[in-house]
Amino acid sequence: MRPPIIIKCSPILILLSYAQSARILGLFPHTGKSHQMVFEPLLRKLADKGHHVTVASFFPLKDPPPNYVDISFEGIADVRLESLHLDMFENFGIINRVPKIRDTIMSLENFRILCTIAVDICDKVINLPSLNEALNREYDVVLMENFNSDCMYGLLRVHGIKAPVIGLSSSFPMPWIGERIGASDNPSYVPVVATTFTPSMTFLERMENTFWRIYTKLSFRYSVQNEEQALIEKKFGIQIPEFSNLGRNVSLVLVNTYHVLNGVTPLVPGIVEVGGMHLNETKKNVPQYIEKFLNESEHGVVLFSFGSLIRTATLPKYKEEMIVNSLSKLKQRVIWKYEDSAEQGNLTGNILRVRWLPQYELLQHNKIHAFIAHGGLLGMTEAVSAGKPMVVVPFFGDQPANGAAAAAAGFAKVVPYYDLSEEALDDAIQTVLSAEMRMNARRVSKMWKDRESSPLDTAVFWTERVIRWGHAAPLHTAARELAFYELALLDVAAAYILAIIIIHIILWFLLSKIIHLFVKEPKQKLH
Ligand SMILES: *[C@@H]1O[C@H](CO)[C@@H](O)[C@H](O)[C@H]1NC(C)=O
Ligand SMILES: *[C@@H]1O[C@H](CO)[C@@H](O)[C@H](O)[C@H]1NC(C)=O
Ligand SMILES: *[C@@H]1O[C@H](CO)[C@@H](O)[C@H](O)[C@H]1NC(C)=O
Ligand SMILES: *[C@@H]1O[C@H](CO)[C@@H](O)[C@H](O)[C@H]1NC(C)=O
Repeated sequence: MRPPIIIKCSPILILLSYAQSARILGLFPHTGKSHQMVFEPLLRKLADKGHHVTVASFFPLKDPPPNYVDISFEGIADVRLESLHLDMFENFGIINRVPKIRDTIMSLENFRILCTIAVDICDKVINLPSLNEALNREYDVVLMENFNSDCMYGLLRVHGIKAPVIGLSSSFPMPWIGERIGASDNPSYVPVVATTFTPSMTFLERMENTFWRIYTKLSFRYSVQNEEQALIEKKFGIQIPEFSNLGRNVSLVLVNTYHVLNGVTPLVPGIVEVGGMHLNETKKNVPQYIEKFLNESEHGVVLFSFGSLIRTATLPKYKEEMIVNSLSKLKQRVIWKYEDSAEQGNLTGNILRVRWLPQYELLQHNKIHAFIAHGGLLGMTEAVSAGKPMVVVPFFGDQPANGAAAAAAGFAKVVPYYDLSEEALDDAIQTVLSAEMRMNARRVSKMWKDRESSPLDTAVFWTERVIRWGHAAPLHTAARELAFYELALLDVAAAYILAIIIIHIILWFLLSKIIHLFVKEPKQKLH
């Protein structure tokens, strides 16, 4: 953070010292561990800087710093960690033959699950005494995830909390985020997270993207916001006006993207890209047996992980065989994150299966030459930062979009899970291990890191800036106060069309009069 120049001016001095021990409330009612991994470093850093931080989440810290209080949601709902079974991808039968329909059904189903989880969790947390108690205190700023739920906006309203709100998004923002801060989310060039599109879209892609934009927004409104509003009104016995507009009061949104990877989209001052905020450059120890395996590799190592949500052991046998066959052919060695492995890993041929791996440490290791992953944004961020090329095998959610973005950035090859065959994987790995792709990955990494301040420092700066100025320094555009017809200029278009019609009628009327005059004259001469 730059030192403030006008430090002698006393009101500012007061504001600055005030920002040094602010009361911060964090609200994170989502069960995905990978989401919390993005937010945690910011919350920790704010506490380290002397702020009083209270955080409600499913993932209380094991070693909270002083001035950090956890409110635990543990036990309220199952957390999403190594819990996704891959058999769900096998049950499509005939539909498998029409990929577009299959993928659409998958995305719809996926979205439906996200909505159900949101409402289910809302129903439980609003009854949590520890949370309601915390909400009865005063805060200087509220940090909260803006993802599949607006339940917390409702609670803030119920408890009359007027502190400015900072929204956090661990992925490319959901389709309803842009309008909250008045940023353009025109589907002609802003892809919806659920798609496989990049900002350059064909006619058909724009059609599909538009469908997803409208569908997800309406669906969020009717199956999440309205449901949550009903739950909260019932529980607290009060009416909340326009629940679907509460989010439009957000002061700032911190987004875990960076345009070098995710593509350029319209930003306003209130949307700040902090992609890479979770990367901790402090070196962690690589377990001895993994380090030995790296040391002894002659041709380098390929890292393979499907992330924290998918349970790798549920890979159907035939898919696992394809993968093993392909990997066995490599002269490189392979380290595979596979939960059911022995303490010291299971070694078969050139493949070492391990329970857990320090992923970012390994990606930075010079013996690691490539990364095979599912396309979760965290792993992708780690790979782009470490400059390692990737084979992306996307499953659902934002993974296809992340894969497409990485491919467009030139450091990845995408093989969708359904198309994963031995040949496809062989091909992809060879492409990714090529000198050209590895060089490209290093180049993209340099661009990714070339910023005016580190993503975590950026996030801290903007958080403290909001604490200092709050509602007095708005960061949104006037677009968020406009109704759709005003934003799309439908009223203006209608007025212009009307004016043009009226002018035409007048002109037509005058013209017919003039013609009438000229036509009459010769007639008179004839007589
Ligand atoms: C980074 O990791 C180190 C060691 O695990 C830890 O002490 C430190 O707090 C971490 N930094 C952040 C910002 O989380
Ligand atoms: C948004 O914030 C302003 C300023 O604090 C407040 O007057 C207004 O009532 C809030 N609107 C909603 C919908 O919460
Ligand atoms: C691996 O190699 C490094 C550098 O040569 C060495 O410092 C380290 O002790 C080795 N580790 C193991 C487990 O062999
Ligand atoms: C790893 O080895 C252990 C013990 O040898 C065995 O029980 C386990 O099933 C193996 N796991 C995998 C993934 O092969």
